[in-house]
Amino acid sequence: MSIVGPQLASAASDLVSTPAFRIGSEAHKQAFCGMLLETFNPYKPAVIDWPELAPDALARLTGLPIWTIAVETEDKASAHIAAMARVTADPLLRQALELMAFEESRHRKVLDALIMRYGIKIDPQPYRPDARTLWNFMSTGYGECLDSFFAFVLFELAKRSGFFPEELVETFEPVIQEEARHIVFFVNWAAYAQANTPWLKRLAFAAKRLAHLALNGIARIGVVPEGGDNFAVHGKESVGVDFELAAFMDLCLSENTRRMALLDPRLKRPMIMPRLIKTARLFMR
Ligand SMILES: [Fe+2]
Ligand SMILES: [Fe+2]
Repeated sequence: MSIVGPQLASAASDLVSTPAFRIGSEAHKQAFCGMLLETFNPYKPAVIDWPELAPDALARLTGLPIWTIAVETEDKASAHIAAMARVTADPLLRQALELMAFEESRHRKVLDALIMRYGIKIDPQPYRPDARTLWNFMSTGYGECLDSFFAFVLFELAKRSGFFPEELVETFEPVIQEEARHIVFFVNWAAYAQANTPWLKRLAFAAKRLAHLALNGIARIGVVPEGGDNFAVHGKESVGVDFELAAFMDLCLSENTRRMALLDPRLKRPMIMPRLIKTARLFMR
């Protein structure tokens, strides 16, 4: 059930020679919405063939402290993105947002199926978003940019460590690649929206982007519990490897590059985390 199929790779390489566009233009919008819509993976959570787990692997899986947070994060994301779709007038943008909301609710279904199959106990709080639709959407978008950066590498480490059977890890490959698509869509949506905001309001929009980035970053280093969805904080202990920090950072960068290379090269990519890690890396051996 791998999403990293030949169509996706060749779709990306075909586009290398396609001329670039102005950020905020109709061609830009077509490209980032097209990237999301054309790389949709029609997998069905209900037919996932969950592997039988040995008692030790089962205990490791059910004992992970991430399941309630993971479920709540998917619920929040689908609610925030669906709400944004409802207030979006442009038909193509709305269609892309609706697809993204559908994919988030499908992540929840994958988790539900896993939780049922292995008897995992969770205690998620029901979530109803408030009326700050744009704020919530941007919070989810920047949150995903940060979480996905670490999810890419945790996924790779889970594969390498053999902490869980390969068939189980592979089940999450489509979910991880979907998040790569989402964050590329999101940063392009933000750049497009900002470019199309009248210049007086543009400053406020830019400030809002910065605020979200800062809030999400602060929440994830554990200073402020912003909604408790700090997957990045909880994840590293979950894959069963004790990894030297510099090597971990290098793997973060190479996994990010690998995931991003699968998507339209003309589009913007989330740059804050790769730049931060690259800069920090300059001061390390
Ligand atoms: Fe998700
Ligand atoms: Fe997502």
